Amino acid sequence: MTYSRILGTGSYLPARVVHNTELEEVMETSDSWIRERTGIVSRHYAADGETTVDMAEVAAKRAIEAAGISAADIDLIVFATATPDLVFPNAGVMLQARLGCRGGPAFSVEAACSGFIYALSIADKFVRSGEAKHALVVGSETLTRITDFTDRTTAILFADGAGAVVLSASQQPGVLSTHLHSDGHYQDLLYCTGGVSKGYEPGTGNRAFIRMAGREVFKVAVTMLGNVVDEVLAANNLQKSDIKWLVPHQANIRIIQAVAKKLDMSLDNVIITVQEQGNTSAASVPLALDTGIRDGRIKPGDLVLLEAFGGGFTWGASLVRM
Ligand code: UT7
Repeated sequence: MTYSRILGTGSYLPARVVHNTELEEVMETSDSWIRERTGIVSRHYAADGETTVDMAEVAAKRAIEAAGISAADIDLIVFATATPDLVFPNAGVMLQARLGCRGGPAFSVEAACSGFIYALSIADKFVRSGEAKHALVVGSETLTRITDFTDRTTAILFADGAGAVVLSASQQPGVLSTHLHSDGHYQDLLYCTGGVSKGYEPGTGNRAFIRMAGREVFKVAVTMLGNVVDEVLAANNLQKSDIKWLVPHQANIRIIQAVAKKLDMSLDNVIITVQEQGNTSAASVPLALDTGIRDGRIKPGDLVLLEAFGGGFTWGASLVRM
């Protein structure tokens, strides 16, 4: 039996750190409101000209080094992003060229904040079927390029960064199960205002911006993430107490607390990065996973639950033995 297993992780955050107090100067908000309602204290913004693929390249090289393989060994790239450098070639192909590997399939996955869970699920299926030996699974975003800085309800949330994992064939179980869901009936609650085919709103200079009905998104997120946690436990015949670590999408500390409560889990067992990273969409789960592994909290053999929820709506979870 062949399984897929995470061999190495890597991440990257742009140098520029933007504290809540800096946002206070450009919009009607306050450090205390942002901390209280979201848990965010600061976040990272990409430099002018620094792109989603630029950030992914650094994260990917770190993951490949941690896995102890060479870039030439990568035979599949699945790249989750809502903010690709170009319409095509896809971000996966661009990353492939940067890494110097070639020939294997490389493609991007568009599932907003759930993108990394979707990408991991796809790569797991390639590896378990024998179609790939060493898959690179990436989440990278330059969300500040689609952030409307005149909209305080979203501008305080979103940020930039990248995370990556090397998922390799193994005789030992690693990814135990993945669970993906979506419901397009909710598309008006969280979306981007423009695109190539639909066009752009007049007066935006062909720019597209994130729009979100935050309160409504919050309620559905908590419900669906609670449901998918139950699904993971049932599918693997596990008790809540069997899960050692929760690595959640970092949208809001209050959503993270609700999922931890559902698992009867102490926040000490949750990798929380939202306070200094904000919401980096598809990058947030691999960024948090890399954080927990590199600071020594997540150890080989630990059972880890990854989950995310985002625009669409899309949501999903994955149970992984490290
Ligand atoms: O990653 C994809 C999935 N995304 C999510 O899961 C995000 C889910 N939603 C949320 O995290 C929260 O709904 C937000 C953080 C976006 C908003 O928090 P909230 O507690 O739901 O606030 P609210 O939208 O209900 O607004 C409460 C008040 C409003 O004022 P009134 O109407 O009560 O007078 C807002 O106008 O807070 C006001 N407000 C702000 N005040 C200061 C909204 N944004 C701000 C702001 N600073 N930045």
